[in-house]
Amino acid sequence: MPNGRAVGADIWLSRDQSGNSRASTQRNALLEGVSDRVELVHADARDLPFDPGAFDVVVSSLVFHNIAGDDGRDRALQEAVRVLRPGGQLRIVDFRADRYIEPLQAAGCRDVRVRRLDWRMGFGIPVNITGLVSARKPAS
Ligand SMILES: C[S@@+](CC[C@H](N)C(=O)[O-])C[C@H]1O[C@@H](n2cnc3c(N)ncnc32)[C@H](O)[C@@H]1O
Repeated sequence: MPNGRAVGADIWLSRDQSGNSRASTQRNALLEGVSDRVELVHADARDLPFDPGAFDVVVSSLVFHNIAGDDGRDRALQEAVRVLRPGGQLRIVDFRADRYIEPLQAAGCRDVRVRRLDWRMGFGIPVNITGLVSARKPAS
């Protein structure tokens, strides 16, 4: 998408990923030649500072398992759905992705599916089977 814009939200915990920072992520965007179309914000996934329906697509990579408790993860899933526009698409990569099917359906999503990804997305650890969750927010 050559004209698309992206907003990256994270709380940049080095506990969850070494060398984690907004500055290093900004540098990655620069190296990829997209820094003029990427905005990075410090924001907790459980309480996103965005208007309802603000985004066409919401994507998340290996974040939800780092959020404590089912309540916290459910809250973050609800936030992801809230900030999606009607008809928008959600994609979440995470360990044990099946656990997100029911909360996403409860949050009103349709076409909620999980596709198992290959071992490289699980750092080669068999117990960390990762999946890609896809879901759609109904248009009305
Ligand atoms: C394993 S790292 C994955 C980083 C990156 N998304 C990737 O795929 O390489 C987990 C990320 O989740 C972030 N994180 C943990 N809890 C969070 C929360 N409540 N809200 C937003 N981000 C959170 C951490 O700061 C960290 O950047």
